[in-house]
Amino acid sequence: MSHSLPVGSNELLARLAAHAQRLQALRPGELYAQGQGRQSRYTLEAEGLIVDCSRQLIDEPAWRALLELGAAAAIPAAARRMFDGEVINHTEHRPALHVALRARGGAPLQVGGVDVREAVRAERAKLAAFVAGIRGGVRRGAGGERFTDVVNVGIGGSDLGPVMATEALKAYARGGPSLHFVSNIDGTEAVDLIARLNPATTLVLICSKTFTTQETLTNARRMRAWIAAGVGEANLARHFAAISTNHAAMDAFGVAADARFTMWDWVGGRYSLWSAVGLAIELAIGTRHFEAMLEGANAIDTHFAATDGEANLPLVLGLLSVWNGNFLGCHSHVVLPYAQRLHRLPAYLQQLTMESNGKSVRRDGSPVEGPTGTVIWGEPGSNGQHSFFELLHQGTHRIAADFLLPYESPTGKLADAILTASNALAQANALARGRTLEDVLADPRVQAAGAAGAALAPHRVHPGGRPSTIIAFERLDPSTLGKLIALYEHRVYVESLLWGINPFDQWGVELGKVQAEALVPVLQVVPGELGAHAWLRAALQATGLD
Ligand code: F6P
Repeated sequence: MSHSLPVGSNELLARLAAHAQRLQALRPGELYAQGQGRQSRYTLEAEGLIVDCSRQLIDEPAWRALLELGAAAAIPAAARRMFDGEVINHTEHRPALHVALRARGGAPLQVGGVDVREAVRAERAKLAAFVAGIRGGVRRGAGGERFTDVVNVGIGGSDLGPVMATEALKAYARGGPSLHFVSNIDGTEAVDLIARLNPATTLVLICSKTFTTQETLTNARRMRAWIAAGVGEANLARHFAAISTNHAAMDAFGVAADARFTMWDWVGGRYSLWSAVGLAIELAIGTRHFEAMLEGANAIDTHFAATDGEANLPLVLGLLSVWNGNFLGCHSHVVLPYAQRLHRLPAYLQQLTMESNGKSVRRDGSPVEGPTGTVIWGEPGSNGQHSFFELLHQGTHRIAADFLLPYESPTGKLADAILTASNALAQANALARGRTLEDVLADPRVQAAGAAGAALAPHRVHPGGRPSTIIAFERLDPSTLGKLIALYEHRVYVESLLWGINPFDQWGVELGKVQAEALVPVLQVVPGELGAHAWLRAALQATGLD
């Protein structure tokens, strides 16, 4: 494990490494000894979010040293550079201004001769009018029928954010059309929807920053052919809207001028659900709730930019992430929403964190000297408890966890909230404290089983010391969802500053994309009449590495 980071003195990094070694040598029972007041000491609160870090492998000297690392990274100055529109995405020569999409007011902010604030305001107004038209039944299909269904065609950032938020906020989706999502190149989602939707009452959103993405264009053409067959080629435009920076491509596709919404180069795909890319969300939940989501995110932006040291939630979460990854060897991070409606959050966070921080070179192009990025995955609790938790508790990997815990249950019943919370908190405690061999052997039931009980005892040991954070909130409403996403976005930014990498480019996904395009003609000449098995053998042969 390398502790080499581009921030912090060698002395500080060595001190952090020594703390990590010392804390790992402790038995969980020593670190989490009762009566230390850990829970209140390491629980932070801001904007209605309660963040309990007391189950992390930290103690006071380690925590202080981590905060010194945060100070060395000059996070407030870096946050200002982002908020002020500096070109922090230097490899693509752009600012990263997703925060401007949810800013409330503020002085004019010029990027490339355009006032970003004004551009965002104008686009928000256009979106709200469009949403009102669809939800209010004023804007209808070619045959005069209301749109009952909306299909968002996009992938990556043009899909994951809209799906995740639409699912998360289903309880707020009243009075609008039903939302559907098509992303995969294999055509499954398109085929399934085409089989059950009515083209006369379906609106298709083509969501693609570039309007060049193979999956999106392929699926958009599939939907176009289906709509054309249903309502007639001449009426197509009534059934399409698009979100893109590529106006020429929208022209070529035939998207009507009043049904196209702009994106800007200064918004990365994985940071874009606040922009017109969120149109699917806004159509589902309405403009008032969408605005509440923006406001929630903005509250965390203000908190991030204005709060110092250990009270700054994204700063602390970013520091803990680097502490776990670079000092304690936890390179995998599981996200456990104890809220079924957040079931797509882990997938969303995978793109946000892994496409951002999966980098091997620093900003100046020199190789990084230690691990960067975190492998993110997860499933809603309590379902995950009955599948992969065994590995979390007893496996050989030490995996860090985030438990997301709402107070309010969708059933509205306190009894359900209690059951959910007891599961989340019990798991977090068990991961932290574990269960030693001595504890197992002292169990009267094990003792009563005699030699057989003793033989089984090692199998019942839980090592403990598995770090977790609990992020608790009152309810999963639009504002809270905005806060949670912004919290994770800024955590990613803090991590990138500590690793000295650019979190806003994604050159790593280009190579595979280009090669996929190049293989299409190679596979087109493999004769289709070979039949499935022989075709696959021939395709593998034609595209193999030899
Ligand atoms: O696959 C990577 C990526 O470039 C993502 O960064 C982006 O969100 C996604 O493709 C979709 O891109 P677009 O919105 O341009 O279709």
